[in-house]
Amino acid sequence: MALLVEGKSGFVTGSAGGIGRGIARELAREGAQVVVSDLPSAAAGGQETVEAIRAGGGRAEWVPADVTSSDEVAALVQRTVEIFGALDFAVNNAGIAIHKPLAEVSPEEFDQVIGINLKGVFLGLKHAIPQMLTAGAGSIVNVASVAGLTGVDLISPYTASKHGIVGLTKNAALEYSGRGVRINAVAPNAIRTPLMDASPKDFVDGLIAPQAMKRVGEPEEVGFAVAALLSDRAGFITGVTLPVDGGYLTGA
Ligand code: NAI
Repeated sequence: MALLVEGKSGFVTGSAGGIGRGIARELAREGAQVVVSDLPSAAAGGQETVEAIRAGGGRAEWVPADVTSSDEVAALVQRTVEIFGALDFAVNNAGIAIHKPLAEVSPEEFDQVIGINLKGVFLGLKHAIPQMLTAGAGSIVNVASVAGLTGVDLISPYTASKHGIVGLTKNAALEYSGRGVRINAVAPNAIRTPLMDASPKDFVDGLIAPQAMKRVGEPEEVGFAVAALLSDRAGFITGVTLPVDGGYLTGA
């Protein structure tokens, strides 16, 4: 059987490390040509992702972009088309979290989380969709979180942003799926990243305690879900948010 995204081209934001790198690597393994994108300050990590993909025989290029900048996201779309000849997929993954009780969150911190997580996804959709409509087809996956589907202690701006991503995903799907562009989201729970590896065991145990499966997930396991949703074989799936959470939401 053909690979999930054989011959397709697109970008993954926030792919200088963590889950984004796992998604980029899995998409390349499944046959895609991947533009690895992240902040300019994350260029070293971005190049590492590119090299890892090339070492596995895949095709990848580094294009920096700040997802809070409309101009930079528009340029990311154009560069992807210039480099690989098409924008078949887009993965809006970049995101941050601030951990504190709601009343202690400053207005500036709230704006920062919403600006990167929610407006960043909006800009990814806004600039990728017209390109895909022109080409007649495309598929987009937004990286939400279980915090997009239920409340999670101490991350209220993040929870608000991720619920917003779930809503944007539904609306975009409603408006564009009839014209060839499918839009879905994934909702991970605890996934192994450098930050997670450096976290105290108690903290990690607290994250995985509500899961049916008592382990952290791997970035490539999120990548598989993204590749599956991007695949043409998922052609009747749009507007959904797929948990990749080891069963976290089954008991939430
Ligand atoms: P990470 O911090 O390792 O990766 C996030 C990436 O986004 C970084 O490389 C960072 O440089 C980039 N980024 C930050 N601001 C940016 C901007 N303005 N423009 C472009 N790139 C920017 O974090 P992780 O864990 O890999 O997170 C990736 C996504 O997965 C995020 O959306 C996060 O909310 C989501 N997620 C993560 C979970 C986990 O357990 N690690 C669980 C659920 C969701």
